[in-house]
Amino acid sequence: MGEVITITSGKGGVGKSTATANIATAIAEGGKKVAAVDFDIGLRNLDMILGLENRIVYDSIEVMDGRCKLSQALIQDKHTKTLYFLPASQTRDKNALKTDKVEELINSLKAEFDYVLIDSPAGIESGFEHAIYLADTALIITTPEVSAVRDADRVIGIIDAKSRLAKEGGEVKKRLIINRIKPEMIKKGQMMSSEDVLQILAIELIGLVPEDELVVVATNMGEVVAKNPKSVSGEAYRRIARRVLGEAVEFMDMSGEKGLGGFIKGLFK
Ligand SMILES: Nc1ncnc2c1ncn2[C@@H]1O[C@H](COP(=O)(O)OP(=O)(O)O)[C@@H](O)[C@H]1O
Ligand SMILES: [Mg+2]
Repeated sequence: MGEVITITSGKGGVGKSTATANIATAIAEGGKKVAAVDFDIGLRNLDMILGLENRIVYDSIEVMDGRCKLSQALIQDKHTKTLYFLPASQTRDKNALKTDKVEELINSLKAEFDYVLIDSPAGIESGFEHAIYLADTALIITTPEVSAVRDADRVIGIIDAKSRLAKEGGEVKKRLIINRIKPEMIKKGQMMSSEDVLQILAIELIGLVPEDELVVVATNMGEVVAKNPKSVSGEAYRRIARRVLGEAVEFMDMSGEKGLGGFIKGLFK
């Protein structure tokens, strides 16, 4: 059975969909079979980030309602052949989700894929509880801003209270991604450092992702930075993927003292 990893946050717009697309691609590039599932009903954009919006015929609600087969709704990525995408419905309201149907869908995906990555709505929105209910692992994303960190803290509490694992006396593995870090601002003391954020949230860190203009460029082209060897955020997502697979990988230095952990320097060797 595959592992279910829900990518979530307290606040909207902190980079969940971008992270889902990149981490899913980077894991699949290593040969694992990965499903990237858009659970942000009504607000879907994972399709655009993956460049698959024109290939959508069916969505997950139609699968859950029995109007098509799962295999009909799954879209194979254009380049990464072990990556599949399951679209969210854009038109139906979020209350269309039923717990037992969601469970059935996720179980079918787990039977077929090594990793099921769920792009969740932010913690304040409906649909969020369905996205975290069946998670084995939650990757919680925040930016280094007080409001986002505070909302992430709330979401950690909800995961601990409302996931199925919690209801069964267990615990969802929770790991933190800090996104859109600007090392030069940290150096000047104008931005919270990863230590500051970790002190508040007190969960295990899995990724530090720098602010990177190439994210927007890639998204506009329906590509992901994880495939660009020259992108610093791409490198950050590739490292997260390796950590998901259980490898111990060094974190890039974001203190602003040494540049981006020698990554940029390494490109010019
Ligand atoms: N590391 C990054 N550097 C620069 N821009 C980013 C980064 N991560 C995300 N973004 C941008 O932030 C916006 C919100 O990202 P998105 O992944 O859609 O967030 P969410 O799914 O949490 O709403 C998008 O315009 C995206 O391109
Ligand atoms: Mg999103």
